[in-house]
Amino acid sequence: MIKILIFIVALYSLLLANDEINTCKKCHPDIAQEFQDSMHKKSSIYDDKVHKAVWDKHPDKAKNDYKCAQCHTPNAKTEDDSKQGISCSSCHTIKDVEIHSRVNKNVYATEPKTFFSAEAGRENEKTNYKIETSMLGMSTSTVGSPYHNLDYTNENFYTAQVCMGCHSHKQNAEEFSICKTDEEGAKDKKENCITCHMPKVDGSATTIRISKKHAFHGFAGARHKSEMLSQYVELSFEKTSDGFSVTINNKAPHNLMTHPLRVVQLRANLIRDTKTQTLQTHTFVKIIGRDNKPTMPWVANAVLKDTMIKAKEKRVVKYTDTLKSGDVVEMQLGYYVVNPKALKGLNLDGDKELQKFTILKHEYFRVE
Ligand code: HEC
Ligand code: HEC
Ligand code: HEC
Ligand code: HEC
Ligand code: HEC
Repeated sequence: MIKILIFIVALYSLLLANDEINTCKKCHPDIAQEFQDSMHKKSSIYDDKVHKAVWDKHPDKAKNDYKCAQCHTPNAKTEDDSKQGISCSSCHTIKDVEIHSRVNKNVYATEPKTFFSAEAGRENEKTNYKIETSMLGMSTSTVGSPYHNLDYTNENFYTAQVCMGCHSHKQNAEEFSICKTDEEGAKDKKENCITCHMPKVDGSATTIRISKKHAFHGFAGARHKSEMLSQYVELSFEKTSDGFSVTINNKAPHNLMTHPLRVVQLRANLIRDTKTQTLQTHTFVKIIGRDNKPTMPWVANAVLKDTMIKAKEKRVVKYTDTLKSGDVVEMQLGYYVVNPKALKGLNLDGDKELQKFTILKHEYFRVE
């Protein structure tokens, strides 16, 4: 018992020393490792060069008024914490989400070391750690975690509403909508933000209570592990009387890309005999700006162009190239994280990683 107490005191001091993730890592090593590589962990200006580049242009920077903190470094109380990005408790202590028109707000629980979570079959449980000894004292079993209490009763962790304090939408000072993730994806318990972006992967959730699988904490997305999401986008092919068409089926309940910096492209090659001919590239973007010119989000007051693939949309793209039997059409659907036209203005030109075109879906269609 004393041993456990010393262990807990030592762990608690680690947490106070602002090293939360190292504490959690002791009992949740797989989850902590995945999280370390995620964009949530890397959401501060110290670890995300795209975020930093945009912040460097922001008028509030001169005033040192870092309003991005609410979502990018929610636990920052000191300069030092602001290097931390989003932490485990940034999510696991969200009790509720308040809906507001400019930007939603997370309501954090104040009970010490009590974490909310979701687990099928335990929806009504709140656990405090205990060691239970059976009647005859022949066997003992443990319930809960020796480090924290757990509360499985928070509905927001089943519907994914917990994600919507930060992800729902953002308006600028002129109440112009900069970005939005449809509410639809955070309603259904069977398919939502969590089931797609945190799928169950191999490995135990804890070292104490062994499970076969755990919810992926690398948060698959545009910057990291996008291949884990390619199953939610389908390409299909149809030969038509005057060429062919390709249908992009976006199964996500939000725009294929939600951030206004992204550019999606559909690229095509026609392979005939031994020759490859590049066909027209189709580009899908949402560009915001002012006076007909693209601008930074805080200046924008209009949508200049919106060809982005929408939530659950099946977009049909037509080609007028005539096909012959035996032709192979190669299709690639992918994206740039930062619009190549915006790189220079953000002082990011020459960045190899950001010049990369990431392929989400790659298919070959043979013409009968
Ligand atoms: C309401 C929460 C919220 C606030 C406040 C916020 N962001 Fe974000 N930000 C997000 C979310 C969520 C994403 C994830 C990308 C998405 O939705 O497409 C993001 C992504 C970004 C990205 C893209 C990073 C990448 O991975 O390529 C940039 C750049 C960015 N934010 C800049 C800022 C700046 C600068 C501020 C402050 C002036 C700010 N954000 C304030 C929620 C917020
Ligand atoms: C001393 C070991 C230990 C430490 C340290 C620890 N946990 Fe846990 N945690 C556990 C155990 C054991 C369980 C499983 C409890 C159960 O299933 O009854 C658990 C479960 C959880 C769950 C819910 C799992 C579920 O079933 O949905 C969350 C969330 C969680 N821990 C978060 C954290 C966070 C965040 C930290 C760091 C601040 C942390 N834990 C540190 C042992 C620990
Ligand atoms: C405390 C605010 C906050 C909460 C809560 C939050 N996110 Fe995020 N999320 C962000 C920010 C900020 C980013 C962008 C980080 C960056 O790129 O700098 C982001 C990025 C992402 C990305 C993109 C990752 C990538 O590689 O491009 C995904 C996917 C994501 N979040 C999913 C979720 C899910 C699912 C939930 C709910 C379980 C959630 N988020 C809850 C703030 C939050
Ligand atoms: C049916 C699966 C599915 C569901 C449900 C889903 N997404 Fe996505 N999400 C995707 C796909 C597919 C992409 C695009 C591929 C990529 O970004 O790698 C994506 C991309 C994203 C991105 C990165 C976009 C960008 O521009 O950087 C964020 C952030 C995100 N989703 C958050 C959410 C949130 C929050 C919810 C819940 C409201 C949600 N997603 C629900 C499949 C899903
Ligand atoms: C962006 C929000 C977010 C962050 C940050 C986050 N989690 Fe989670 N976590 C969740 C959600 C949502 C679930 C429930 C997933 C489900 O339904 O299985 C979860 C589940 C868990 C579980 C149970 C997993 C299982 O499959 O049984 C553990 C343990 C856990 N988290 C620990 C952590 C630790 C440790 C960290 C930091 C290293 C962390 N979480 C960071 C949102 C988050």
